Amino acid sequence: MTGVVLSTCPPLTDDDLNELFGASWPGHEPVPFARTLSHSLCWIAAHRADRLVGFVNVATDGGIHAFVLDTTVHPDERRAGLGVRLVRAAAAEAKARGAEWLHVDYEPHLERFYAECGFRPTSAALMQL
Ligand SMILES: CC(C)(COP(=O)(O)OP(=O)(O)OC[C@H]1O[C@@H](n2cnc3c(N)ncnc32)[C@H](O)[C@@H]1OP(=O)(O)O)[C@@H](O)C(=O)NCCC(=O)NCCS
Repeated sequence: MTGVVLSTCPPLTDDDLNELFGASWPGHEPVPFARTLSHSLCWIAAHRADRLVGFVNVATDGGIHAFVLDTTVHPDERRAGLGVRLVRAAAAEAKARGAEWLHVDYEPHLERFYAECGFRPTSAALMQL
């Protein structure tokens, strides 16, 4: 993964994000990201040269709770530790910005991934609205 640089809250274009999400999330349709990021405590981006290859967003309740969303690594860059680097950087940044609890939800096959990021399992639930 040499050559991949992380940055905190850099400006990102919709084109860059939609290209990354399109390659990474089946069925992704282009969306404007400005509204999403306006609710963020922070986000971490990963670039190889000028190409966006990773992203994770941290939303906030405005208090001590923060929520990891949209952890994404481009398929070309997976299984080289970048996802864990992104989430750990997001956790450190969220702590520096005053969050005390970091939440995430995920599919069962990603339990080991989030454990490596530093999460411990808890009971949680999700409702589609
Ligand atoms: C999930 C995702 C972010 C992981 O990124 P990554 O850079 O490949 O992850 P890492 O290389 O840091 O993985 C570290 C460890 O987590 C586990 N892990 C990572 N991806 C996994 C997967 N798809 N299935 C099972 N375990 C996985 C492995 O134990 C891995 O170590 P190993 O490669 O030595 O076996 C990436 O696959 C992705 O973007 N997926 C599509 C979007 C998505 O589902 N995001 C999660 C939202 S909750």
